[in-house]
Amino acid sequence: MGLRIRPNVRRMVPYSPGKPVAEVQRELGLDSVVKLASNENPLGPSPKAVEAVRRAAACLHVYPDGSAYELRQALSRKFGVPPSQILLGNGSDELIHLLGLVFLGAADDEMVVGDPSFVRYDAAAHLADCRLVKVPLDGDLVHDLKAMARAITPGTKMVFVANPNNPTGTIVRKPEVDAFLRDLPDGVVLVLDEAYYEFAADVPDFPSSLEYVRAGKPVVGLRTFSKAYGLAGIRIGYGFAPEEVVDAVDRAREPFDVNSLAQAAAVAALEDDEHVARTVANNRAGAERIAEALREAGARVYPTWANFVYADLGRPAQPVFDALLRKGVIVRTAASMGSATGLRVSVGTPDEVERFVRAFREVASAW
Ligand SMILES: Cc1ncc(COP(=O)(O)O)c(C=O)c1O
Repeated sequence: MGLRIRPNVRRMVPYSPGKPVAEVQRELGLDSVVKLASNENPLGPSPKAVEAVRRAAACLHVYPDGSAYELRQALSRKFGVPPSQILLGNGSDELIHLLGLVFLGAADDEMVVGDPSFVRYDAAAHLADCRLVKVPLDGDLVHDLKAMARAITPGTKMVFVANPNNPTGTIVRKPEVDAFLRDLPDGVVLVLDEAYYEFAADVPDFPSSLEYVRAGKPVVGLRTFSKAYGLAGIRIGYGFAPEEVVDAVDRAREPFDVNSLAQAAAVAALEDDEHVARTVANNRAGAERIAEALREAGARVYPTWANFVYADLGRPAQPVFDALLRKGVIVRTAASMGSATGLRVSVGTPDEVERFVRAFREVASAW
């Protein structure tokens, strides 16, 4: 129709969520399919959250609390930060989007990201039609903070570091982040995306965004209820940030972006430490088992602090993905992130992990 849609939007690549289980099952005529592709919680949602959603459903005729008072208070108590330093969003995806809206706008604005890293950062830059500077991870697939510091120019507004990183599962440590912040020019904000925080929390020198925000550093920390808390379907993310950033995001966001079921679920999930502990323990065992199977086949497996394992197969990953799919196991290639040989496998239940291990061994035995 020749409508005047902005050219930068036309150039954007829509997010590809991977095939739903039911579709794969139907297409391939399989009895059962396991999906180890979206870094979801294989143990399901916190039962306390499910109960809270049931209760909150009775009030669906009422608009949500636009300030999410109860949830903000609960997060404030749990993490020891004032409510005025807490961000909330319809998934941390929305917070990434909103940070793009409030920091980026001019053509010479720049955003610095690691490569490969979470694809939604790119979208925030493309939507603003600003410059996206991608800095390759180092040889161990860890964010190269020294190179990222060198990539900063007077146009840089924001630097994104996913910690742990998606798709590689690797982390940067406190001494590196401290050094990066010491040299960060005034006016630039570092976003530490800690979507997988709970899986890395016990690493002694993990650089928690919370501490930096408490210390008044120009840092935004993003976290989510989608992973360890098992609430991906209800969409709720949160974060810690200087008041100035929370205020700006508050102006830009939709008034009711976090729905009432999500608010209720999150308040209940925050009290369910046991569910998170079980999730983390299941994850540790499953990640080791997956890594072992990949290593046996000669893949280079990277250490993970997240709920997935990343490996370089040393051969094209797409045929491996296809062969696993035919056996009813959905994983993820790293093709959209620029690697033809990378494979990312989310940790499932013990049964799902065994299903992957068996299928992968069969596929690899034909090499
Ligand atoms: C690094 C990273 N950040 C953010 C997200 C988005 O999470 P949410 O479900 O909170 O939008 C993901 C999801 O996979 C992720 O891997």
